[in-house]
Amino acid sequence: MSQSLQKVLVTGGAGYIGSHVIYALQKTRRYKVISVDNGHNSHSNALSKVSALSRSELPADASQRDIETTEIESYKCDLTRRDEIRAVFEKYGKGGIWGVVHIAAYKAVGESVEIPLAYYENNVAATLYLLQTMQEYDCTRIVYSSSATVYGIPPTIPIPETTRLKADSPYGKTKVMSETMLDDLCHSDPKWSAISLRYFNPAGAHPSGQIGEHPKGRPGNLLPLLAHMAIGRVDPKTLQVFGNDYPTPDGTCVRDYLHISDLASGHLLALEALAPNSKIFESTPDARYKAYNLGQGKGISVLQIIEAMRKATGFDFKYEIVGRRRGDVPDLTADPALAEKELGFKANEDLAIMCRDLWNFQSKNPEGYGKFD
Ligand code: WQD
Repeated sequence: MSQSLQKVLVTGGAGYIGSHVIYALQKTRRYKVISVDNGHNSHSNALSKVSALSRSELPADASQRDIETTEIESYKCDLTRRDEIRAVFEKYGKGGIWGVVHIAAYKAVGESVEIPLAYYENNVAATLYLLQTMQEYDCTRIVYSSSATVYGIPPTIPIPETTRLKADSPYGKTKVMSETMLDDLCHSDPKWSAISLRYFNPAGAHPSGQIGEHPKGRPGNLLPLLAHMAIGRVDPKTLQVFGNDYPTPDGTCVRDYLHISDLASGHLLALEALAPNSKIFESTPDARYKAYNLGQGKGISVLQIIEAMRKATGFDFKYEIVGRRRGDVPDLTADPALAEKELGFKANEDLAIMCRDLWNFQSKNPEGYGKFD
């Protein structure tokens, strides 16, 4: 009899990052994915697209077990409702879920300043309830979606993981708090193992153009906004560049972009590193907890992004320089060495590929996944 598949629960599974992570998990043909999502900034069509894409890549002689890996058990579930997340774990019973990839969260820095309590509830309280539920059901492995915003304005660039955590926005603080909970939990109980992944700026889409980012409303982030401008979905037609008086080579902010497929593969490596025989915790004998930067280690300015998107789309973007955006940091460039050394992670795809794949998704799906439910 073949061994049964390991069950991995992905929170925020129908979102931009979640859908690409699920695809990466399915591609291994070793996991059975359970997705939970409350539909806040995600589209229900995303999951059927992921499954269809995975199925289309199965060999003609695929086994029943392989076919099973392409199916997603999906639940509409709000993590701030303990009863809802508990009901999902109850279905699989104690020890039924091997590990969790926790991606679901609110993520807009500016909004978090306006409505901090909603952020603490949705990002911190929800993580607490999830961890309590996992504990109850003997599920003690977790990969956590953290963010480069935990560093605030970092004292050194590129930023190593040893940098003090000093987030400025409520959003960033929710990520620091959740990381702290994981660290404390792993110190309290050797059964637990956890990895926080500090994302820099994920971009692009799966090269097939089947899955990608579908933001609700007008995109706030630079790359999806440029894609929407090129497809003719946003007004006004002039991009506002927030500041050109930063201490950076061209005066505009610098970010570290990495392809969404690379980011997804980082989750897979992290999940695998939670296995009992993992070597990565040898350097932290007190607790099986680690945090890694996921970035390329290459700084790219706002003006360079506009130029790269012009090349990818052929669209002549008009822009004007306006004042700085509140809360923006001049330079967020990762030192990616630790993730490479310990996880074997490397973000290979360059900016031109990210822009090509973003545009491929956007032009094949001008309306994204279609109207929200
Ligand atoms: C990039 C640059 C803007 C829009 C991301 C995530 C956020 C958090 C941190 C998630 C900045 C400039 C943008 C525009 C512009 N991480 N810009 N005009 O700020 O790095 O935030 O990382 O965990 O959720 O979104 O990304 O794409 O918003 O901005 O000039 O209309 O583009 O000022 O310098 P950011 P972004």
